[in-house]
Amino acid sequence: MGQDGAPAAATAMNPPRGYLVDLRSDTLTRPTAGMRAAIADAAVGDDVYGEDPEVNALETEVAQLLGHEAGLFCPTGSMANMLGVRMLVAPGQELLCDSMAHVVRAELGGHAVLGQVSTRTWASERGRLDAETALQMAVPDGGPYLVSTAAYAVENTHNFGGGTVQPVAELRKLWQGSREQGVAVHLDGARLWNAHVATGVPLAEYGSLADTVSVCLSKGLGAPVGSVLVGSAALIAGARVWRKRYGGGMRQVGVLAAACRYALANHVERLAVDHAHARRLAETLGAVDERLCDPAGTETNIVITEWPEPQQAAAFTAAAAGAGIRVSALGPRAVRLVTHLDIDEAGIDQACDLLPGIAKAALQS
Ligand SMILES: Cc1ncc(COP(=O)(O)O)c(C=O)c1O
Repeated sequence: MGQDGAPAAATAMNPPRGYLVDLRSDTLTRPTAGMRAAIADAAVGDDVYGEDPEVNALETEVAQLLGHEAGLFCPTGSMANMLGVRMLVAPGQELLCDSMAHVVRAELGGHAVLGQVSTRTWASERGRLDAETALQMAVPDGGPYLVSTAAYAVENTHNFGGGTVQPVAELRKLWQGSREQGVAVHLDGARLWNAHVATGVPLAEYGSLADTVSVCLSKGLGAPVGSVLVGSAALIAGARVWRKRYGGGMRQVGVLAAACRYALANHVERLAVDHAHARRLAETLGAVDERLCDPAGTETNIVITEWPEPQQAAAFTAAAAGAGIRVSALGPRAVRLVTHLDIDEAGIDQACDLLPGIAKAALQS
């Protein structure tokens, strides 16, 4: 995989942002010139008929990267997660996951509303998987009295945990234990690329430890839209039916798949740059006050700062925005900073110059 690396230059199509550095999310990236050219050149067909060459190629590429039989292009990570879980958990059965998982916190109850899935959660430190804790919760056959556990969901990297990378040994332990229990595993790999780049663990090794995997091309990889769900040919054939039922059957969508293929070919290895940027931000803020963040805990592209008092977090967020640096509130005392393709070295320099003074003032508020 090569890299084009450069953030989208300000052009008529990509006008300059009205602020300096937007660290709210890695979903904010805009297509680069190279990606726009790939979009323009895309060969397309009707994907509901299975005739879009770019979509077919993307699904095959991602399935191969993750070592699975088949892939399904989805408009969002939420839909890919919902389809994956739907194929593993029957109505009335349960999904186990950690209490900060995107599937239970940020998919607006979709698994319950659309999939009739029951969920139970375990507590975790920064989203880090402890396989034993998870395995002990399962009730594979609840009989007529208890809800039966059908699947675990694991998130790698963990978003609300702060870009936490799941230890592959724990993933393996969960996988092996789940085989003995007859319980399935869904991997929410929206940022699996970041885990792969941070650790060097092959994508196929992560893929081998789950029945279904969802990955997003629209986060750190910089595509405007797009996720892929992978699994066995039978599971993906079933998910394809449900995708259409959910209204996710798209037509000449090769224009988007081309952006995703471009992102895969050019923007994976460069995630290391985002990780280095995040570490710089964490070191800068940790040097202001060690209660704010532990730089060693910044493993990928997400920095979570914890503030002693809620008003300090709010003051930091507001003052940073006033100085042209946008960050996002994650809770009353937590503020998140995310690095991505549209944040270059100059942007990080700017943030590291301005944020210490803003943080000091906020701590005194
Ligand atoms: C870990 C994780 N999973 C799934 C999603 C859902 O992706 P989408 O916003 O495309 O629905 C996100 C989005 O931020 C995420 O962080």
